[in-house]
Amino acid sequence: MLRFLFLPFFFLITVTRSTSDIKAIYWLQQPLFPPQAINTSLFTHVYYAFLAPNNATYQLHVPNSTAATLATFTATLRPSVAPLISIGGANSSSDLFAAIASNAAARAAFINSTIDVARAFGFHGVDLDWEFPRTADEMNDLGQLFREWRAAIASEASATSRKPLLLTATVYFSVDYFLSETASLRYPVGSINDNLDWINVMSYDLNGPWSNLTGPPAGLFNPKSNASVDYGLRSWIRGGVIPKKVVMGLPLYARTWQLLDPSVHGIGAPAVGAGTGLDGAMALFQVLEYNNETGANVVYDKETASVYSYSGSNWVGYDDPVTVAVKVGFAQSLYLRGYFFWAAGLDTSDWKVSTQALNSWTLCINEKGGVN
Ligand SMILES: *[C@@H]1O[C@H](CO)[C@@H](O)[C@H](O)[C@H]1NC(C)=O
Ligand SMILES: *[C@@H]1O[C@H](CO)[C@@H](O)[C@H](O)[C@H]1NC(C)=O
Ligand SMILES: *[C@@H]1O[C@H](CO)[C@@H](O)[C@H](O)[C@H]1NC(C)=O
Ligand SMILES: *[C@@H]1O[C@H](CO)[C@@H](O)[C@H](O)[C@H]1NC(C)=O
Ligand SMILES: *[C@@H]1O[C@H](CO)[C@@H](O)[C@H](O)[C@H]1NC(C)=O
Ligand SMILES: *[C@@H]1O[C@H](CO)[C@@H](O)[C@H](O)[C@H]1NC(C)=O
Ligand SMILES: *[C@@H]1O[C@H](CO)[C@@H](O)[C@H](O)[C@H]1NC(C)=O
Ligand SMILES: *[C@@H]1O[C@H](CO)[C@@H](O)[C@H](O)[C@H]1NC(C)=O
Repeated sequence: MLRFLFLPFFFLITVTRSTSDIKAIYWLQQPLFPPQAINTSLFTHVYYAFLAPNNATYQLHVPNSTAATLATFTATLRPSVAPLISIGGANSSSDLFAAIASNAAARAAFINSTIDVARAFGFHGVDLDWEFPRTADEMNDLGQLFREWRAAIASEASATSRKPLLLTATVYFSVDYFLSETASLRYPVGSINDNLDWINVMSYDLNGPWSNLTGPPAGLFNPKSNASVDYGLRSWIRGGVIPKKVVMGLPLYARTWQLLDPSVHGIGAPAVGAGTGLDGAMALFQVLEYNNETGANVVYDKETASVYSYSGSNWVGYDDPVTVAVKVGFAQSLYLRGYFFWAAGLDTSDWKVSTQALNSWTLCINEKGGVN
């Protein structure tokens, strides 16, 4: 009898909690993969990448040609998934964000414009992808920017009786931004907890052809150094960020190397630069085609929980459905909020990796009885 009484509560808790989990993906403005091509049943949030502030007014700049894209983007995705605007990105100016964050008038102009643009185009939230704050002052300023941004979002929501916009940030793989092997800067953890809905941790690009040694670009573990997903995610939690505000990044692309000696092809093998693909990068779907066409050897490395392939002198490190399933289980063991992918258009046409992530996340929640 008691058992039956408990059951409905159990399901209620599972459902309530799982709906707030994050399964996100970034969409880089591109003609080849329109927003209509995104399978919205696999995601809860889709990020538009990217908008940038104007460097004189500090307001979010929406070129006329972009306005139509933004409108199509939100109209296509809602209501199945929540669209967010991501501001910044790898190619944006760190100086510009530093100038905005350090000046009260600039912060106000910037914050005001982000809310107005998000509302004008029907977005559910805004994201800051500042790569990266480079001084202790800039880290403090970032914390101040988040405080004022949250206050403005709350006041706009109450003035308009609307649901507050989401506020997130895309951040470095670890809580300490490394300037060198010995010097680092800590992110403003207190402000992150108080003011952000969650952070997207870029737990990838940990190895690449910029160093002449092969290595997993987003290996879960690393027996030789701290360049691992495990170290990075745990560092955020050790640093004090609430685990339910941490979202794990997963790459849908590979990094490639050209081996010095094709017969030395393990992890840590010497290389002489980038391998196949533009600048030593390949989309996951291209890797699978490449492996098939060249008959490449595919190796699962248990120590790092990563996969690589080699063929002739080409070496490719990546994540596939198997490694992603392991990482999703890992994220749940740390009680994280969810995961995000970089980026739409790079998975296989039938969304093999994204589907595996969703299934693994759902399966783990069910097996743990909603403990997540
Ligand atoms: C989208 O994903 C869902 C869930 O995995 C799947 O059932 C559906 O077939 C997919 N649709 C397309 C068009 O790929
Ligand atoms: C500001 O942006 C304009 C237009 O993109 C550019 O020409 C100019 O060099 C930028 N100024 C600074 C200080 O970055
Ligand atoms: C951009 O659009 C606005 C409003 O539709 C229009 O007034 C303005 O002239 C346009 N600017 C350019 C550069 O096309
Ligand atoms: C940054 O610029 C490079 C080179 O122009 C381009 O290949 C890449 O897609 C850009 N990345 C983002 C995130 O916009
Ligand atoms: C932004 O500033 C404009 C002009 O002062 C104002 O009309 C608008 O309400 C402000 N938006 C927010 C979200 O505060
Ligand atoms: C890894 O990080 C820990 C704690 O942050 C530090 O004590 C240790 O020296 C680092 N190890 C390496 C190999 O850098
Ligand atoms: C990698 O190897 C190539 C070829 O030997 C060399 O030109 C390049 O400088 C090396 N890069 C690094 C980062 O060591
Ligand atoms: C692998 O390549 C063969 C021959 O080129 C092709 O017929 C097959 O469809 C490919 N399989 C996949 C999964 O790409």
